[in-house]
Amino acid sequence: MSLPKHIAIIMDGNGRWAKQQGFRTRIRGHEVGVEALRRTTEACGELGIPYLTVYAFSEENWARPKAEVNALMKILVSSLKKELPTLMKQGVQLQAIGKLNLLPESAQRELQEVKDATAGNTTLVLTLALSYGSRQEMLHATRQLAQEVADGTRTVDSIDEAAFSGALYTAGMPDPDLVIRTSGEQRISNYLLWQISYAELVFLPVLWPDFSKEHLEEAIASYTQRERRMGKTSEQLNETTS
Ligand code: IPE
Ligand code: IPE
Ligand code: MG
Repeated sequence: MSLPKHIAIIMDGNGRWAKQQGFRTRIRGHEVGVEALRRTTEACGELGIPYLTVYAFSEENWARPKAEVNALMKILVSSLKKELPTLMKQGVQLQAIGKLNLLPESAQRELQEVKDATAGNTTLVLTLALSYGSRQEMLHATRQLAQEVADGTRTVDSIDEAAFSGALYTAGMPDPDLVIRTSGEQRISNYLLWQISYAELVFLPVLWPDFSKEHLEEAIASYTQRERRMGKTSEQLNETTS
């Protein structure tokens, strides 16, 4: 099977990594996690994967201790500033999905700057899921569609899969083919629930700060060995079209 066009990653395990390394707080894990994301973005570019979407901060993560949330927001701002030249060099276009208006103003401003600066890059679209929750995203889409019906600009019958997909934050992006979650947890944690209906799932025990190109290749190798039947039978898929 061909390579995935869109990989979605749940970057998990930063806190446990920091603890294992003997750091006093979890923050160092988040800092080193940025380096893993830089490596992964570069590797996706080299492999010719056009879309990478990473779960960086969930809507539920706002409930973490204030000190950790503040540190994460600081890391977000400083990383955006620091990584811009690398993103330009690698031809990466930055996007963001989630309730971005809940982010501190400095983060919103920096995101906008990097999005604008990288808008013309075409090698890879890197999307950060920030203040993101899939149920909240689907509610937002539902309200938007309902409002269009109430306004008389849309009929109820026109609400089909394409219309719903188009009302999500990920409008215009292909659905992920492969979801990778690090840290050994085997759950989705409110990530892209609509979009990953038929994605292949790969759970790896490695903690996110230790994630390398080899781990990415291992996940892709597992993906390429699978048969994506999408409801059909294996025989149907193997039928020749002659
Ligand atoms: C993922 O690592 C990063 C975020 C959720 C922001 P965690 O911080 O969840 O680390 P663990 O899972 O507690 O080890
Ligand atoms: C999911 O990780 C969110 C991110 C990786 C940003 P969590 O660590 O928040 O998920 P749970 O709480 O283990 O499900
Ligand atoms: Mg976690």
